[in-house]
Amino acid sequence: MIQERGTINLSKGKSMSMIFAKPSMRTRVSFETGFFLLGGHALYLGPDDIQMGKREETRDVARVLCRYNDIITARVFAHQDILDLANYSSVPVVNGLTDHNHPCQVMADALTIIEHIGQVEGTKVVYVGDGNNMVHSWLELASVIPFHFVCACPKGFEPDKARVLKAEQAGLTIIGADVVCSDVWASMGQKDEAEYRLKAFQGFHVDEALLKLAGPKAYFMHCLPAERGVEVTNGVVEAPYSIVFPQAENRMHAQNAIILHLLGF
Ligand code: CP
Ligand code: NVA
Repeated sequence: MIQERGTINLSKGKSMSMIFAKPSMRTRVSFETGFFLLGGHALYLGPDDIQMGKREETRDVARVLCRYNDIITARVFAHQDILDLANYSSVPVVNGLTDHNHPCQVMADALTIIEHIGQVEGTKVVYVGDGNNMVHSWLELASVIPFHFVCACPKGFEPDKARVLKAEQAGLTIIGADVVCSDVWASMGQKDEAEYRLKAFQGFHVDEALLKLAGPKAYFMHCLPAERGVEVTNGVVEAPYSIVFPQAENRMHAQNAIILHLLGF
């Protein structure tokens, strides 16, 4: 928990535009606050502001914003949009979530595991639910850091095969897990499938019995927002082994490290 907040001037005079085509609490607030604490200025551009790909082509947005700002952060639907932004921008582009992945979240998740377990290497993370953007980011992490990632998804909702192939995986049992995690069953852009997914995902929710099976040392993690009573019970979110709020706080710390790295520190 942050006891004291103060700004440092490492990013003085720097600015960051933040394009959000989807809703957000954590990503927007952690980036905006974090960059302010580093001495920089962040500008929020909501879905109605620039209407990327509709009012203006993505490649034009990239080539204009990079003339004003030192960093561009974007939360978009199609993953191709973030690739196009990066391709046409002369300043770094940070992925604040796409339909394909959510890398800033998994950086915060790794930091949270380090804080609570000591290291990511060798830990066993068991994900239960939809093989979605969060899973792709866990798999990306598993392809660069050796840890065990087990993903239990209903048939038809598995993650991208190429991502799975690239990642190192081990084990197929949840017994002895260090971390059990989940995410919503209907992500942003899929909310009209919520009812159908609710039926398809029966048996893939995280509850107290599952955590008991995982073992006494297992933590529960969730990127939030969580739908209590759907993919996870209220009891699990509120339990002492739940670390979802330190995990949310770590979005800001992990992203500040990313920003400083991108600015050359
Ligand atoms: N975890 C996460 O990205 O939350 P928001 O959608 O609120 O940004
Ligand atoms: N999978 C979720 C993550 C939200 C942070 C979504 O894309 O909506």
